[in-house]
Amino acid sequence: MTEPMRISAFFDETSHTVSYLVVDPATRAAAIIDAVLDYDHRAGRADVTSAGRILAVAEQLSARVEWVLETHVHADHLTAAPWLKAKTGAKTGIGAEVAQVQKIFRPVFDLADVSLDGAEFDRLFADGDHFAIGGLDVEVLHTPGHTPACVSYRIGDAVFVGDTVFMPDYGAARADFPGGSARALYRSIRRLLALPPETRMFLCHDYKPPGRDHFVWETTVAAQRAENVQVHDGVSEEEFVAMRHKRDAELAAPELLLPSIQVNIRAGRFPRAESQGARFLRIPVKLAPELDAVV
Ligand SMILES: [Fe+2]
Repeated sequence: MTEPMRISAFFDETSHTVSYLVVDPATRAAAIIDAVLDYDHRAGRADVTSAGRILAVAEQLSARVEWVLETHVHADHLTAAPWLKAKTGAKTGIGAEVAQVQKIFRPVFDLADVSLDGAEFDRLFADGDHFAIGGLDVEVLHTPGHTPACVSYRIGDAVFVGDTVFMPDYGAARADFPGGSARALYRSIRRLLALPPETRMFLCHDYKPPGRDHFVWETTVAAQRAENVQVHDGVSEEEFVAMRHKRDAELAAPELLLPSIQVNIRAGRFPRAESQGARFLRIPVKLAPELDAVV
């Protein structure tokens, strides 16, 4: 019998993000999905401790990282993709609709150096694309809703679903970011839940809802269909959309929204250093009219 693929999960408690290392045991080829850059917003400092941990495990497994993949342009953490690419020579990949996300956010930050065609990434995946991690076949499913560019990666009996559904006791992702759509999210989730019931689902986040004392990021299609509090079998599109609109209206902006988006639409690159050697991120600020008039 052939050895099963090896999946290692790495949980970042700061952003509640789960990154994955997927290794093909036959060829030792590997992919990293949704790697987190350690970013201290208060101090304005970025580090690669978390990404380094993933590489250390890859090394222990004698794995060769060939892909650094994103499920979407994250709004709650910065990606460590450029550093991982530099260390491993891996290719970066994301959903082709990232161009849409760039078109939405380039003007928000007034960034001249962002392409509008996803050129910052090595590979742009369309729905139904296949690619290989060594001997493992990866199928790409376009699963928009949380963002227009969200994709899920299906490998054998596992699917990495990004921000679509979370654990059954927590529900689904928010759909209120620019370009997001609760209706599209519902359809994407139903598509994922139409996969074979035993399919293992690996999530991008866990927020440990009240009543649970430990973080979990793996479940199954069957468990989601039976138990997901927001989108179990029987919840209609209209019910889901109404619930999502109500919930999303109550949610605050993620703490790292502004730094994350402007870095992640550049595939993780920071702006070039300015004259004094420092690099700067941008914070667009909306002023109340009476303030705007005087400052
Ligand atoms: Fe997200």
